[in-house]
Amino acid sequence: WPALRGLMPSNVRIGTAVNGQALATNARYRAVLTSDFNAVTAENAMKWGQLQPTRDTYVWRASDDLVAFAQENGLAMYGHTLVWHHSVPPWVSESWSAEELRELLKQYITTVVSRYRGKIWAWDVVNEVLDEDGSLRDTIWLRKLGPDYIADAFRWAHAADPDARLFINDYGAEGRTGKADGLLRLIRKLRATGVPIHGVGFQGHLQWDKQPVDVAGNLQRFADLGIPVAITELDVRIQLPMTPEKLARQAMLYEHMLAACLAVSTCESFTLWGFTDASSWIPHNYPGYGAACLFDTDIRPKLAHSALVRALREG
Ligand code: G3I
Repeated sequence: WPALRGLMPSNVRIGTAVNGQALATNARYRAVLTSDFNAVTAENAMKWGQLQPTRDTYVWRASDDLVAFAQENGLAMYGHTLVWHHSVPPWVSESWSAEELRELLKQYITTVVSRYRGKIWAWDVVNEVLDEDGSLRDTIWLRKLGPDYIADAFRWAHAADPDARLFINDYGAEGRTGKADGLLRLIRKLRATGVPIHGVGFQGHLQWDKQPVDVAGNLQRFADLGIPVAITELDVRIQLPMTPEKLARQAMLYEHMLAACLAVSTCESFTLWGFTDASSWIPHNYPGYGAACLFDTDIRPKLAHSALVRALREG
């Protein structure tokens, strides 16, 4: 089949999240990964809980391996993610003082970003910091450090690698939602105070029968602030059983999201949250759903893949 990476406009990367287990054990997975994509995100290997299982131990192996794999194969590496309430290691305690927690977060960000300085094209600095209504999400960081933890995280990351592009990333903000409005307000505020923020990532965890409202127009209003955008975690889950009709709807949604990215001149990348149904996170987290990726469980391209190929060829 025609490789996606050969068809993308040269200024837009085509990426995928990488499952460490599949990368290590499946040659076909590695072959398709390197032929179809030119950027990778660690699905889990760069999360805080994985990197620092105890206060005194960093475990770099999985993350180092992926960075090395990316470099050997000419793939851009997208770092995911520095601050995410869901991946705070269990040994971090909210009973610690604000000063101690602030220092800990600063140390962590500085350590990780410095280690990979020059090897990561962009970092998700903060992930999912907003609630559905667009207000700041109630997390340990907001409760203990106040809203400035976001600006601080960007500043610390920037100091550790001034050349890395720094993203804010969230889900449910692809279309015109209350969260998208809140994200726009937050970015305006951060930019107005000189915070080094260089991009907005829209995750795009979609469901086959729900199309987000006006994705292209929504992305454009972020781009209009002078801040590049990216699709960072696209998948389109299907309610099982899978039918030809559902696969066709899924293909349309993939194509719709690609068209929205390409319609915005500063959309920097189009990244999938895994490319094969063989290792997707969906069945574990959405019982009754699956088949969310471009390739099936045997890593053969599905209708959605050919839809993207056609869309790219027709320009
Ligand atoms: O590492 C253990 C393994 O030792 C154990 O055998 C296994 C048993 O279930 O669990 C393994 O850890 C799991 C890990 O995935 C690796 O498979 C965690 O329990 C599980 O919570 C974790 O889920 C990941 C989730 O983020 C939470 O970190 C998903 O794979 C990953 O796809 C998902 O990705 C997130 C993005 O980071 C942020 N945006 C949303 C997206 C989907 O939730």
